[in-house]
Amino acid sequence: MADTRIAGVLGRRVWDSRGRPTVEVDVTLRGGAIGRAIAPAGASMGSGEAVDLRDGGAALGGYDVGRAVNAVNGEIAAALAGKDAADQTSIDQIMIALDGTTNKGRLGGNAIVATSMAVLHAAAAANGVPLWQHLARGRNVRIPLPEIQIFGGGAHAARRVDIQDFMVMCPGAASFAQALEWTAEVYLAAGRIMKQAGKLQGVADEGGYWPAFKSNEEALDTLVEAIAKAGFKAGEQVAISLDVAASEFGKAGTYTLALDNRRLDTGAMIAMLGRWLEAYPIISIEDPVAEDDAAGFAAFTKAYGHRCQVIGDDFFVTDAARVREAARQGAATAVLIKPNQAGTITETQAALEAGKAAKFGTIVSARSGETEDVTIVYLAVGWDAGQLKVGSFSRSERMAKWNECLRIEELLGKDAVFAGRAALGFSGQSQT
Ligand code: PGA
Ligand code: ZN
Repeated sequence: MADTRIAGVLGRRVWDSRGRPTVEVDVTLRGGAIGRAIAPAGASMGSGEAVDLRDGGAALGGYDVGRAVNAVNGEIAAALAGKDAADQTSIDQIMIALDGTTNKGRLGGNAIVATSMAVLHAAAAANGVPLWQHLARGRNVRIPLPEIQIFGGGAHAARRVDIQDFMVMCPGAASFAQALEWTAEVYLAAGRIMKQAGKLQGVADEGGYWPAFKSNEEALDTLVEAIAKAGFKAGEQVAISLDVAASEFGKAGTYTLALDNRRLDTGAMIAMLGRWLEAYPIISIEDPVAEDDAAGFAAFTKAYGHRCQVIGDDFFVTDAARVREAARQGAATAVLIKPNQAGTITETQAALEAGKAAKFGTIVSARSGETEDVTIVYLAVGWDAGQLKVGSFSRSERMAKWNECLRIEELLGKDAVFAGRAALGFSGQSQT
């Protein structure tokens, strides 16, 4: 293999899907290989996430990343010069130690994650194989089951409805390509329903239709109608998946549903979701209660973990120790994996491996602020995560990722194994 020692690290400011600045990093190796990656950005963030370094002040809403770019071109570039890009763990350890904080706030989670991912890309390029194959290291991998947003809500739609993501999953699909085709029909049908009802008002942050609904239930009813109008059996072929993102409207055991004008305690919140599970073909629920409500997670999982996947996002913030603790408590059945929550590839992989060790479902996920960077697709395939969450079925920062996964499935040809229904994390029960 060509020389994999790092020759140069170059950071620059680019722009994300919300028109905000973000950090792009190019890593060049002595043997000539190049890797590039861009940091994404969340809007509904867990309090335990790695913190992005932003400039503050009046310009660009305070979102500028001049200091983070300087950190890449200064301290990080100097510390990584000559280091072996093939040794991802050491590279990430160097950056963690250099930053010196527990939340990566000094150099910036955005600076560190973009560099970490760019180093990984460079190592794969030097290896002469696609990144997913570099990560798979000869092991069998599956093409992930996609989780795709139809209506956006919560923090991604000015809190128009409380629930953040109304999504579909296609457990009945035979391939990734078919899951996308079915989802496309549902997305189109949902758009037609919204138009006919005079409710089509563009899209939310991740490209799902703007949720001009009177209640959270109206969104669920419309989604069921869209699945039926598209010609699918709800629950069997195409099912509903929710990201409640409850930390956005709940704290210390009190949940305020603005739209429905209701205040619920944890028990009532769980009961409401339980009624939805009875009434609608829901197979997955993310962050059903707030990140500070571990007992609520355990209670929800005990009550419903046998009939739907219970995903922790803000609850886990892609942290292996938190995943292991929740597994001990029976407080979830799946973990969302977001590289920029952890801040490095090494820590991201550790969280995913902790999820697998606990027999959890593992879902590699994009953020609401995204770019053309498709690294997460390679992580989902190469690490055999089984599930992939990217946002909706519109806007190219989303479609770039779905389309890249499609290409991998095509490349694998008859060797492609679609993870499908079996990838869902259902509390140790049969996953069929
Ligand atoms: P975020 O939303 O990227 O704004 O945090 C995604 C999610 O909550 O899953
Ligand atoms: Zn979430």
